[in-house]
Amino acid sequence: MLDFMVSETGFERSIMDFSPLHASLGASVTDIDCADDDAQIAGDLQVALRHWQVLLFRDQDLSDEEFVRFCRNFGDLEILPEPDKRHPVYPEIFNLSNVKPDGSLPHRDHPQAVFLRGTSRWHTDSSFRDTPCLATVLYAVTVPPEDGDTEFANMIAAHDSLDENERRELEQLRVVHSYAYSRSANPGKLEPMSAEELARVPDVAHPLIRQHDDGRRSVFLGGHASHIDGEPVAASRARIRALENRLTAIGNVYRHHWRQGDILIWDNRTTLHRLTDYAIDRYPRVMRRCTVAGCDPVVPVLAG
Ligand code: OGA
Ligand code: MN
Repeated sequence: MLDFMVSETGFERSIMDFSPLHASLGASVTDIDCADDDAQIAGDLQVALRHWQVLLFRDQDLSDEEFVRFCRNFGDLEILPEPDKRHPVYPEIFNLSNVKPDGSLPHRDHPQAVFLRGTSRWHTDSSFRDTPCLATVLYAVTVPPEDGDTEFANMIAAHDSLDENERRELEQLRVVHSYAYSRSANPGKLEPMSAEELARVPDVAHPLIRQHDDGRRSVFLGGHASHIDGEPVAASRARIRALENRLTAIGNVYRHHWRQGDILIWDNRTTLHRLTDYAIDRYPRVMRRCTVAGCDPVVPVLAG
């Protein structure tokens, strides 16, 4: 058990205990009831998230109101653009669930299942936006009896694994992130998007290697990453996918097996994540989800 964490200023004591989940990233936070209304812990939680990249809080029992309040410790919360997916009272909560409105489970090819299965490719949330979201929080309400784990890859470790020459080359590149592309590559058939919908999510280019304000660097890729800006689409897309495969196979992946009552938050700036398969037509899997709005621009490594 560690009762400290590393911050920019060195070791700081914290009222929380952190127990590593994996050698590369992630910590379980013990001695905390996320239902407590304690705004004092927000600063510690934000530093801890930055440092550990994934934080887990086990055995929690929160009302929807308490869940939203806890998530606000990490920053402002996004409100979904789609009114039909919002919680009726707390518009910050998204019901991430394979249970259909009538209580039945969908066939694997039903749009609701196809949408959820889309998260089974490595990605970082909303990287198709100019300012992608900072973090995502899931609260496990119902978990399948087997499978349906979520994997997290440490993309700072991925960066640090690159040799000097490759790093210098990749630092020069920008990658086009495209919602239209990731949707078209979904592992199942989704309705085509209208011109109006497409216009709301224009492609953006982000640096392939991003620099954080604390000096760390990470590789910024994932399922919305379509191709390298200014390069032929097919060849540069193949290069991106190969790089992503290589950089998520270097011992930098934590696989989380969910228990009912888990609250888990990940830092979208420095990790990729993906759902692992489960019998989506057989077992309910229900998560409450909140999204912490982005505030850091995606900045490239400065020359020099
Ligand atoms: C998400 C996501 C994965 C999961 O909510 O952004 O990718 O395991 N979820 O449900
Ligand atoms: Mn996601």
